[in-house]
Amino acid sequence: MTDQQLPGPPEVAHEVFTGDAWSRAEAFAELLAGPGVVRGLLGPREVPRIWDRHLLNCAVVAEAIPSDARLVDIGSGAGLPGLVLAIVRPDVTVTLLEPLLRRTVFLEECVEALKLENVEVLRGRAEEFAGKREFDVASARAVAPLDRLLTWALPLLREGGELLAMKGERAAEELTAAETQLRSSGVRTAELVSVGHGKVEPPATLVRVVAGRAPMKASQASRRKDRASRSKRARGQ
Ligand SMILES: C[S@@+](CC[C@H](N)C(=O)[O-])C[C@H]1O[C@@H](n2cnc3c(N)ncnc32)[C@H](O)[C@@H]1O
Repeated sequence: MTDQQLPGPPEVAHEVFTGDAWSRAEAFAELLAGPGVVRGLLGPREVPRIWDRHLLNCAVVAEAIPSDARLVDIGSGAGLPGLVLAIVRPDVTVTLLEPLLRRTVFLEECVEALKLENVEVLRGRAEEFAGKREFDVASARAVAPLDRLLTWALPLLREGGELLAMKGERAAEELTAAETQLRSSGVRTAELVSVGHGKVEPPATLVRVVAGRAPMKASQASRRKDRASRSKRARGQ
């Protein structure tokens, strides 16, 4: 398979993945280290870091997710963080959104192998689902700079829904760089949130953005109104 060996899980993994989540996390680690690497979805050099850098770092994002949320993981790739979040949070309904077929095939196989009933795999680009699907939370890791991510995520969120962007060391910098975009998209709040204290080192940094009534949605509504009055005029009403 690969020349890099999957190491055993660190002790703390038993605190993070409990109950059914434990065997699923172990199985997902094997899938990433085996078929995930062979099919080029994860670099072979990542194998020794699968537990800490990938599974644990993604799992701690669950601390910021409200109960029973409908979550979309934008650009899920090999299922990070979305599939891990589905493992640790069976109360959350997870949509793994990913445009590349090779990746969605792997994701479907993982969902089946892990017998996850709270996951949907959706093939496509985030922009294609604007105004068509609505979620409470959008997660994303290593997908796009924050300003671009906002244009993809906000149209997928309900008013008051949250974007949780895993941004690591560059989080504060990205937040500053996205100031103009944040102002023009009518968001309620944008802040840094630190999760995973005592579980991952360093703790994971998220940019949390709470969606307001986005101008984009408002302009869609006004276009709809214009269309309605044009057709009324055409009918002579
Ligand atoms: C660098 S990978 C990161 C994958 C995963 N989130 C991770 O952290 O390992 C970026 C992913 O975003 C996906 N992507 C790129 N543009 C996208 C878009 N407009 N909408 C949704 N996903 C997109 C790519 O296909 C790719 O799988």
